[in-house]
Amino acid sequence: MKVLVTYFSQSGNTRKVAEAIFQEIQASKEIRELAQVDSLDGYNLTFLGFPIQAFGPAQQAAAFMEKHAAGKNLALFITHAAPEDSTDLQQWLANCRALAAGANLVGMFDCQGELSEQVADLMSKSGDERLAAWAKDRPSTLGQPDDTSLQRARAWARELLQKHVP
Ligand SMILES: Cc1cc2nc3c(=O)[nH]c(=O)nc-3n(C[C@H](O)[C@H](O)[C@H](O)COP(=O)(O)O)c2cc1C
Repeated sequence: MKVLVTYFSQSGNTRKVAEAIFQEIQASKEIRELAQVDSLDGYNLTFLGFPIQAFGPAQQAAAFMEKHAAGKNLALFITHAAPEDSTDLQQWLANCRALAAGANLVGMFDCQGELSEQVADLMSKSGDERLAAWAKDRPSTLGQPDDTSLQRARAWARELLQKHVP
């Protein structure tokens, strides 16, 4: 029984969640950046993490899922700058779920991640009012994912592991 944790993380938020999940795995396990993974063959369960970028899954993750996820046991973990109760978020998460349609999707977790200063700068200069408004909300994202979010990720992973990794 082998478990893989793999992630794409531009500014480190999703990596923090990946590392927390990895620590919860008692079975034989590996953790790798997504760019280092060629196939999901040989893993009984894969935790795949990525950020929301431009209202959907980060391109790298979308391309990976389209190519490699079919028929595999997959658990998605996702970070985003939008608040967890944002209504927009539900659609973006649905887009992520749709991309995993060919896989056996055993669970999905999401939490807020800090919006980097660099991205906030680009957003405020983009001329798009919605992006500019997000950039203004950056202070509310600082420090995310925090301990509470990481504990939530750990508990989610433990529950899945109990069910799917006997
Ligand atoms: C190019 C780009 C686009 C983004 N678009 C969104 C978005 O549409 N919605 C959102 O909630 N956050 C968006 N974000 C913020 C990231 O999802 C958030 O900061 C995430 O936690 C970053 O994770 P990472 O540090 O693992 O890269 C975007 C970030 C970048 C760099």
